[in-house]
This record gives sequence, C-alpha cells and structure tokens, in this order.
Amino acid sequence: MTNYQALGIAREDRDQRRIATLRNLDFFGAPHAALLFMPEVGDCVRTAADVGMWAQTFLLSLTAHGLGSIPQTMLGFYADTAREALKIDASHKMLFGVSFGYVDKTAVGSDYRIEKVPIDESVTLHV
Ligand SMILES: Cc1cc2nc3c(=O)[nH]c(=O)nc-3n(C[C@H](O)[C@H](O)[C@H](O)COP(=O)(O)O)c2cc1C
Repeated sequence: MTNYQALGIAREDRDQRRIATLRNLDFFGAPHAALLFMPEVGDCVRTAADVGMWAQTFLLSLTAHGLGSIPQTMLGFYADTAREALKIDASHKMLFGVSFGYVDKTAVGSDYRIEKVPIDESVTLHV
C-alpha cells in the first residue's frame, strides 16, 4: 500500500496528492522536529553513516518511550531556511528531519507503514 492509498487518495487526484505532500511541511502535525545536520568531513560518507546510526538509535528510543516518529528527507529541501532561522553555519549540511510526538491514532494515515522486504532479500549471509 502507498501512503496515498493509506490516506484514501486516488493516484490520479493530483490536488489531494499535493496537499498530502505539503503535510511534510507542517511536520504531519507533530509538536516536535529534530533537524539533523552534519559537518563536511572529507567525502562526507562516513559522517553521514554516523548520523544515520545516531538517527536509528533516536527513532528506536522514541518508540521505546511510546512516541511516534517520521523521518523526512523532504525537510532537507529547506536546509537554507533552517540554517538561517537556527543560525547554523553553512558548513553544516542537513541530512533530514525527524518529526515526533505522541501519535494521534485517530488521524487518517497514522497507521501507515512502509512495507519492508524480507531479511533474506536485504541481507546476504556468508557462512
Ligand atoms: C530516511 C527516511 C526518509 C523519509 N523521508 C520521508 C519524507 O520526506 N516524507 C514522507 O512523507 N515520508 C518519508 N519517509 C517515510 C516515513 O518517515 C515513514 O517511514 C513512513 O511513514 C512509514 O513508517 P514506518 O517506517 O514505520 O513503516 C522517510 C523514511 C525514511 C526512513
């Protein structure tokens, strides 16, 4: 199921799809958002991996405390705005944001989950 299907929006309904996409910009109604920036170090690959690991731990911690979270790459399109508002140096690159808070389980789409591939498709074991 796509997130549009979860929201009850037909694929051809461009207006509603646009409105749904714009929900990214109000953090899907979440009261908090963490914006993840990283310093430019070398080719940035290792630093990005470090921040990714930090982010995964953050998401798991939120879940463990009963909160919901939405990683949002789209917020990175507004990195300049975020840097300006938060006085963050241009040398720090934004990876993505995470909106979070207690989930409104009555909200349409709040139970949307991305289908994950089975572990044997994503991991190769060499034994
Ligand atoms: C790194 C990352 C970036 C994402 N960026 C966006 C985004 O910009 N906008 C969006 O609507 N969903 C985005 N998603 C998907 C949602 O955050 C979330 O994964 C989805 O609602 C399903 O939740 P689930 O991962 O618990 O299945 C992203 C997911 C990940 C892991």
